[in-house]
Amino acid sequence: MQSSDDQPSADPFAADRDAVTAWEHDSRQARSDGRRLVRVPLRSDAECDVCVVGAGIFGLTAAYLLQHAGRRTIVLDDGPIAGGQSARTTAHLATAIDGRFSAIESAHGRDKARLVAESHAAAIATIEDVVREERIACDLRRVDGFLCAASTDPDHLRALHDERDAAARAGLEVELLARPPVRGLGDGPCLRFAAQGHLQPLLYLAGLAEAFERAGGQIYTGTRAASLEGGSLARVLSTDGRTIACKAIVVATGTPITDGVVVHARQAPYMTYVVSAPIDGHDVADVLLWDTAEPYHYVRLAGIDAGGTRRLIVGGEDHKTGHARDGAERFARLERWARERFPEIGPFDRRWAGQVFEPADLLAFIGRDPLGDENVFIGTGFSGNGYTYGTLAGLLVRDLVCGRDNPWRAVYDPGRFPADARSVGRLVRENLDVAARYADWLRPGEVTSETAIAAGDGAIVRRGLDRIAVYRDVDGTLHRCHAACPHLGCSVAWNPAERTWDCPCHGSRFTATGRLIVGPANDDLRVLEARRDGERNGEQDRV
Ligand SMILES: Cc1cc2nc3c(=O)[nH]c(=O)nc-3n(C[C@H](O)[C@H](O)[C@H](O)COP(=O)(O)OP(=O)(O)OC[C@H]3O[C@@H](n4cnc5c(N)ncnc54)[C@H](O)[C@@H]3O)c2cc1C
Ligand code: FES
Repeated sequence: MQSSDDQPSADPFAADRDAVTAWEHDSRQARSDGRRLVRVPLRSDAECDVCVVGAGIFGLTAAYLLQHAGRRTIVLDDGPIAGGQSARTTAHLATAIDGRFSAIESAHGRDKARLVAESHAAAIATIEDVVREERIACDLRRVDGFLCAASTDPDHLRALHDERDAAARAGLEVELLARPPVRGLGDGPCLRFAAQGHLQPLLYLAGLAEAFERAGGQIYTGTRAASLEGGSLARVLSTDGRTIACKAIVVATGTPITDGVVVHARQAPYMTYVVSAPIDGHDVADVLLWDTAEPYHYVRLAGIDAGGTRRLIVGGEDHKTGHARDGAERFARLERWARERFPEIGPFDRRWAGQVFEPADLLAFIGRDPLGDENVFIGTGFSGNGYTYGTLAGLLVRDLVCGRDNPWRAVYDPGRFPADARSVGRLVRENLDVAARYADWLRPGEVTSETAIAAGDGAIVRRGLDRIAVYRDVDGTLHRCHAACPHLGCSVAWNPAERTWDCPCHGSRFTATGRLIVGPANDDLRVLEARRDGERNGEQDRV
């Protein structure tokens, strides 16, 4: 246990994040959220029933449910609470999930499609129960969701009809309307899904963390798990040499840090972009909106924040991670799209992006780690539905740890392989793409000289056989890292919109100076040196 005079660890990524999400309203609110989202690091060895690695929606939900099921639980996170994708979310709570029921039914059959619908509905109901029982003020609301045709093209209209039929067969309350009853998504037909929802994600996760601690659980932030072992002597080792001995481990790191390739080869990382601006809430219906564009747009209102502002939050423009450098244009396209539909919207003052993992056969991987011992559990492949998936993953993993039966077990089994031709096709395409990315090592650098890299920008430079990821910070100092991703060695690519190095293979992401943000890598990029232009190599301290 930590000593009582320990100070909470600061958010280690604070200096690296320049994107401000819609959830960090004003500096006073952000500071008070910060205090509630940071705990002390683990300072000595510990022992518990279950160690959860990762304090996002999945890790915290699993921890809360396990602690209430009588399992002494410890949560570790290398950043603050909700420092991963759970803070970048738009927090639509949907049973109308991204995989679409028409496709899920043809890939997995009607029975499994019903279980999928049931599990997402159970997740929203669970969030409601937790909010009520723990009195978490997080602006949770039940609202309708509308899936609208992005064009009058017959393919879009047929897609809506197919989805209405399959979603109804899966047990959802859904109806086809000739046109949206609310402004914002054109005047074509749409599906109305009842009983969807939304919430303020940071307030929910801060409240969930406190409820878990009130029940006797412990959270340590600023503590990275370096490795973990399952089996009879299960343990998690932190990078600074602390050991947590436990009976079971839940790997809730967004994408598992345990698994070499077996799960990563069956899901693909995608970046998704979000913009937000103040809007007069009286004129806009409080609903969830999605369209059938490829990639699709997603829209919601946020609750009124501490400064009295209501905001519209609009997302979309997804692309495979590491495959596009045009984030600025994507933000601009989203803003144009939103202004065409909501002309009275105020100036866009929040832009951010994040990553989702798309499973080849459309369903998440939740359960026993296929390559690990039977007491190591994972949850990943949540698509753009991580708030419902993270919650239902908490319910499922709680049951698996406690040896209870659960009807969703086979549906989300991480050991399954795609059986239908479309899923196999997606899997083959994504993996051919990964294989092709290794050829990057044979390509020339993106610039021939570091002098071509502007302040605040980054590029790959070739040095002999090596590729070097070079970033010039705003003061002119050059930061050089080896471009090899520590996961399986793909060459990282510069992402100018987020100022990160992103791995196009399985989605590891690093700050401009090489620090790990998101796995599956579990290490930083190898730092070579930092120096100002004009200084010779070696004159500057190694960083
Ligand atoms: C822009 C955007 C919009 C989205 N919109 C929606 C939406 O509207 N509705 C919805 O349901 N979903 C949405 N999603 C998806 C959803 O936000 C995510 O799927 C979900 O938050 C993932 O939660 P998680 O707990 O699995 O992972 P994360 O929230 O990423 O948590 C993983 C945690 O593990 C920690 N960690 C990683 N490695 C280690 C280590 N070695 N040691 C210790 N800690 C470690 C990280 O610091 C992090 O805190 C969106 C995502 C994005 C990016
Ligand atoms: S994330 Fe797998 S090689 Fe980079």
